[in-house]
Amino acid sequence: MTDAHRRLGPVVRLAPAKLNLTLAVLGRREDGFHALHSVMVPLSLADQLSLAPAPPGGVDSLHRTGLDAGPIEHDLVLRAIRHAREALPRGPFGADPAPPVAARLDKRIPVAAGLGGGSSDAAAALDAVLELWAADVETERRAAIAAEIGSDVPFFLARGPALVEGRGERVTPLAWLRPGEEAPGVLLVTPAVRLPTPAVFAAYAAGHRAGGAARLASEHLAAELRDGRLGTRDLLARAAVLASANDLAAAADAVEPGLLPFRRSLVRVLARPVGLSGSGPTHWALYPSLDAARAASDALHAALAAGRLALPGDAPPAIHAVSILAAHGGPS
Ligand code: C5P
Repeated sequence: MTDAHRRLGPVVRLAPAKLNLTLAVLGRREDGFHALHSVMVPLSLADQLSLAPAPPGGVDSLHRTGLDAGPIEHDLVLRAIRHAREALPRGPFGADPAPPVAARLDKRIPVAAGLGGGSSDAAAALDAVLELWAADVETERRAAIAAEIGSDVPFFLARGPALVEGRGERVTPLAWLRPGEEAPGVLLVTPAVRLPTPAVFAAYAAGHRAGGAARLASEHLAAELRDGRLGTRDLLARAAVLASANDLAAAADAVEPGLLPFRRSLVRVLARPVGLSGSGPTHWALYPSLDAARAASDALHAALAAGRLALPGDAPPAIHAVSILAAHGGPS
């Protein structure tokens, strides 16, 4: 690495959570993955990642703080750095592989929760490490590397609301809501059970599915958001349709039978539609603003203290009041 390529300071990125407003499963592909049609949006809840050059001759390292995210050697941040190094044209570093990286990650997004935290960390790591190495990799190649790391990773490179298709590799940015609208608020409730995505897809493949109504709702929402015609109120008016537009819900309920009574108790307490994000177990409710979501969070804490929620898991749920981001990311 030449001095021109060496960055002195760390590269810092916020890695936002995502919410699936819709999630339609269209069928099983030949590669074993499922073909999806999903409207995904980034949220203000985010992990924080920082990458710096490691001492020459060292190895990649990751130091994590915040929520427990399982074995560090399985962390997608390290995987993203490895994939980026393998994919690099040799140009910037002559015959040498790209140099080692010291990563720090503060985990704030609940883990294995349907919020895409690990995938978002991976996308942020890919983007940040290429900047650290001053490596010029075109958008399409970045997207291909992202798809190799995991199905949800390409979405986060789009840096805004998007329609996600294929197994997750086809990402079409959506205009989102009319300009000038107040960002919708979201109340996220994550019961203390982890639902591994492969287990939920396996339950789906084994026949735990209901209705299949998600496809129409998903196509309709994507069409409406493509050209920015909707306002925040319009989105909220569709909440009941969106809350039932997740084809993985029946499968998630089969893997964790406590989810159905939990969801019903949440609907009773919040008195509004409640949906499942991704493969769960995080549930969501939409609000006209972040302030309204915060008020609902207070009410939910009170209901929790009064024992009015049917809880799976042996710990209280994580509760977050957040807003939907129209855009995120970029060099810090
Ligand atoms: O790509 P990722 O590693 O996140 O996927 C985890 C698992 O979820 C896959 O191994 C597969 O079982 C399932 N999956 C799927 N179809 C998708 C995405 C994930 O079947 N589109």
